[in-house]
Amino acid sequence: MPLLSVHYLPSSAANGYNSAMCFNPIIVALDVTSAEAAASLVHELSGTVGAYKIGLELFNAVGIGIFGHLREVDSKAKIFYDAKFHDIPNTVAGAVRSANNHNVWMVNVHASGGRAMMKAAVAAASEADVKPLVIAVTVLTSLDDSDLNNDLGIRRTVRSQVVALAELAKESGCDGVVASPHEIKAIKQACDREFLVITPGVRPAGASLGDQKRVMTPGEAVALGADYIVVGRPITGAGSPRDAAINILREIEGATAN
Ligand code: C5P
Repeated sequence: MPLLSVHYLPSSAANGYNSAMCFNPIIVALDVTSAEAAASLVHELSGTVGAYKIGLELFNAVGIGIFGHLREVDSKAKIFYDAKFHDIPNTVAGAVRSANNHNVWMVNVHASGGRAMMKAAVAAASEADVKPLVIAVTVLTSLDDSDLNNDLGIRRTVRSQVVALAELAKESGCDGVVASPHEIKAIKQACDREFLVITPGVRPAGASLGDQKRVMTPGEAVALGADYIVVGRPITGAGSPRDAAINILREIEGATAN
C-alpha cells in the first residue's frame, strides 16, 4: 500500500472539498525565522501533509513575500495564515481583503472581537476568487479559569467560554474554530459536525512536550472529531520531517481504523 494512501475523509465538506476526496488533516506550523528554512520544510514535506501554517513569527521575520515564495516551492501548497486578526470590523475586513491577494486557504480572527467583526471578516473573505476558510480563535490555551475570572472579568469557566465563542463564531458565519483537543467534543456537540475544529497541542506518543501541557496524540484528537491538527516541533524538529509526518499519519490511521 502506498504510504500516502493513509489520508482521511474530513467530517465535513468545506471550501471546495467534497467528502469523496482523500484528505490529510496535518497542518504543519512553520515556526522558523527564515524563508529558506520554511521553503526547505515545504520542499521536504510536499505530499505528506495537508497544509502549512504561517504564524506571526515567520510572517514578521520575512514579510508578506513568504506566501509567494512557498508557492514557488510547491504550487499547490495550502496555506493557513495564522494572523489572529482582532480589531474593529472595518479594519479586520480590510486585512482579510489584503490577505485574499495571497490566495490563503485559511485565515483566522479572534472570536472575542465579536459578532460584527467576524461577520465583516467572513464577508471580506467571500470577495476572494476562492474564499478562504475563516476560523475563529476562542480562548487562548495559555489562559485558565483564574485568568478569565480574576483578570478579564469573564464569569465562566474556560470550557464554557470556548463553547459560547464557538457558537458565536458559527452564528457569525465562520467555518470553524481553533481549540484545544480537550474541547473538541463539547464544540462538536454545541455546534455541529460540519463546524471545523482545528487543534494544536498534539504530540505523538513519546514525543517531547516542549511547552505544551495538556496534550493528546494526533490519533486521539482526530478520533474525537478534530478536522485538522496543527503540529510544529514534532515534525519540524525531527531528523526526518517527512518520516515524522508519515508516522503521524499512520498513528491517526491506527486510532481511527474502526
Ligand atoms: O511545536 P508545536 O507543535 O507545539 O506547535 C504548535 C503550533 O500551534 C504553534 O505554532 C503554536 O503557536 C500554535 N498554537 C498552540 N496552541 C494554541 C494556539 C496555537 O500551540 N492554543
